[in-house]
Amino acid sequence: MQYLYPPELRADRCGRKPSFAKKKIMLNIVLFGPPGAGKGTQSVHLVESFGLVHLSTGDIFRSNIKGNTELGQMAQSYMDKGQLVPDDVTIRMLESEVNKHPNAKGFIFDGFPRTTAQAEALDAFLNQRNAPVTSMLALEVEEKELKKRLLARAETSGRPDDANPAVIQKRIDVYNAETAPVAGHYALQGKFTGVDGIGTVEEILERLKAAIAQ
Ligand code: AP5
Ligand code: MG
Repeated sequence: MQYLYPPELRADRCGRKPSFAKKKIMLNIVLFGPPGAGKGTQSVHLVESFGLVHLSTGDIFRSNIKGNTELGQMAQSYMDKGQLVPDDVTIRMLESEVNKHPNAKGFIFDGFPRTTAQAEALDAFLNQRNAPVTSMLALEVEEKELKKRLLARAETSGRPDDANPAVIQKRIDVYNAETAPVAGHYALQGKFTGVDGIGTVEEILERLKAAIAQ
């Protein structure tokens, strides 16, 4: 009898497939970029296209602030100044959010990791689950455009960190100093792709989808 598939892919006599063939492969995307680059906007569309769970650490902190939780009160003191919330708290929060979705096909991490320590923690956490980061897609947008977008959003967002140009500048400075190096962390793993973040939302979405398909 001529087999079409190599032995490791054949079902046994009872029709059972080998265990690894049943193994789920998760799509775990780190959507990266400076404040106002379009991470949140594009995440909504990527979730629709790929059926992933969207985890935005900024959104989770804001929902805790709204609920006046202890975590929210602590995070607010940093966010209002445009500073990063400390790593230990942020990492614990992110891991607990991931654990709430045991059946996820994959995640979009939006706004996390933002420091090398967070990236190392995320790698260790996901590797333990045999579901490592698939790729980091970095939206590239120049500073002038970022400021324009954030100041425009301040009209409607109600976000205190959008309303003050000095806080916007601080967020961008913190991104350049503490967050940008995380790109190097994933570049070393061969997982980094830069994506032009200027254009219409649809054009950028197509670029992201093309990068995911690579
Ligand atoms: P977070 O909420 O993550 O804010 P951010 O990174 O500053 O980025 P934004 O959410 O402002 O921008 P975005 O890239 O999502 O762009 P968006 O799609 O909204 O973090 C807030 C704070 O929380 C941090 O400063 C920190 O204090 C804390 N924090 C969060 N995560 C943390 C972590 N891991 N560790 C420690 N602290 C953490 O788009 C922006 C605007 O542009 C919108 O109005 C949108 O409509 C518009 N827009 C989008 N796409 C386009 C386009 N193509 N053309 C024109 N306009 C566009
Ligand atoms: Mg966002």
